[in-house]
Amino acid sequence: METLVVALGGSLLRPEVEDRHDWLIDMVSIIKSRVLAGDKIGLVLGGGAPAREGMELVRHAVDDIAKLDRIGIAATRLNATIFREALSSRGISISKIIPETVERAVKELEECGLVVMGGTEPGHTTDAVAISLAIESGASKCIIATNVSKVFAEDPKENPNSASFDMLTLTELQKIVGEPHHSGAGKSQVVDPIGVGEALKHNVDLDILDGRDADKIRRSLQGEKFEGTMVRGK
Ligand code: UTP
Repeated sequence: METLVVALGGSLLRPEVEDRHDWLIDMVSIIKSRVLAGDKIGLVLGGGAPAREGMELVRHAVDDIAKLDRIGIAATRLNATIFREALSSRGISISKIIPETVERAVKELEECGLVVMGGTEPGHTTDAVAISLAIESGASKCIIATNVSKVFAEDPKENPNSASFDMLTLTELQKIVGEPHHSGAGKSQVVDPIGVGEALKHNVDLDILDGRDADKIRRSLQGEKFEGTMVRGK
């Protein structure tokens, strides 16, 4: 019986993702079986398409990053609501609210065993929220489910021959993603450098994997070998 936190990148829910309906059903079954096995699970949803669309609409009307961040946060909470409703429809006992702070999420996790949330406040992404939730809830690890197979030395879209890693330390990961700072609303790195900074401070284990394949998330949750990048130790 463990406490586990999963950051589900908003890109996993995007309309252009093939089989996303099957993916959602698979994810619900996976979470249900972990909860029935006695694990406590915190899920943190990213903003995906509604975040990008909302920010793009106000691009010329808003000049303040915090304002764009708040649009992003609203989108993460929409996605969290979608996921929470899907889970509760399958009779899984789950927190009734979408907590707006990590502190509240920890309380819900303790009481209900399963909580779904989105963002908290401007200045970081939901990866950083998930890592904080892992720290504050004493989780054994934080899974970062994104849309790349592994951590690459360089952006694979820019350099398709870039080296990828099966194993990294937190210091090595911080070097790859850069110093902890907010890279700007809607801008994305494989993992938020602010979250990596917190993980390094508190020595949090991270599993970074391609969440489009729900089975990789299942394997990581169950402590089995998975394809992706394991980040262990400072
Ligand atoms: P995401 O967590 O989805 O960030 O939050 P992302 O990495 O840009 O997107 P994906 O998941 O890779 O597609 C979307 C945006 O919402 C704001 C940020 O502007 C972020 O870029 N946000 C989110 C916050 O300001 N605070 C939060 O706690 C969460």
